[in-house]
Amino acid sequence: MAINIAIDGPAGSGKSTIAKAVAKELEFIYVDTGAMYRAMALHLIRKGILPEESEKIMEACEKADISIAYENGLQQVILDGENVTEYLRQEEVGNMASVSSANLKVREKLVQLQRTLAAKENVVMDGRDIGTCVLPNADVKVYLTASAHTRALRRYKELEENGVSCVLEEIEADINERDYRDMHRDISPLKKAEDAVLLDSSNMNIMEVKREIIRLYKEAIA
Ligand code: DC
Repeated sequence: MAINIAIDGPAGSGKSTIAKAVAKELEFIYVDTGAMYRAMALHLIRKGILPEESEKIMEACEKADISIAYENGLQQVILDGENVTEYLRQEEVGNMASVSSANLKVREKLVQLQRTLAAKENVVMDGRDIGTCVLPNADVKVYLTASAHTRALRRYKELEENGVSCVLEEIEADINERDYRDMHRDISPLKKAEDAVLLDSSNMNIMEVKREIIRLYKEAIA
């Protein structure tokens, strides 16, 4: 049977960096479920649908054909036959994803795709509802968090390094807003699964978090 490691947590907690590193070490597939919600958002934007048009979102999402593939170990998202990975990090796409990911039909469709993948392959899957909803029987469940200030600082440094000028307080306010939205939506809100291990990366580096997850994995399969 395939082994599943679920990593959930708020925006900027370092989930994807950690999940990728763990997947690489264990030679598992890394599944970034946020990218799937972003691909669905891109599909909706391309159809000219607005975030508040929930009926249209429900109808349009049924027709989107989303799948994932891997190129040099990196996840690629395919939307209706086109590799759309390069468009997914755009602000507009993220904003639409933040709203459309709360739509029941969107979630049903993508959760099914995620479960099918996890049944076939050993995966490290990251998202918001993996341990609570998508893979309730995952072998290892981690809830990775860090203080809003730490997460804002990380994002600030990343943007500065890329030559983008920004204001730390604004980034922190944005993070708090996204946390609130993710944690208070009706369907599959972000929360720690009862049996997930809480890791706070505020005072841990990537290496330490990775080591702890690998330790949990070895403990789980022993
Ligand atoms: O992690 P991310 O920023 O790429 O996620 C994009 C959006 O999708 C974000 O608003 C949260 C949402 N999401 C979700 O609702 N469930 C998941 N399993 C993953 C992401």
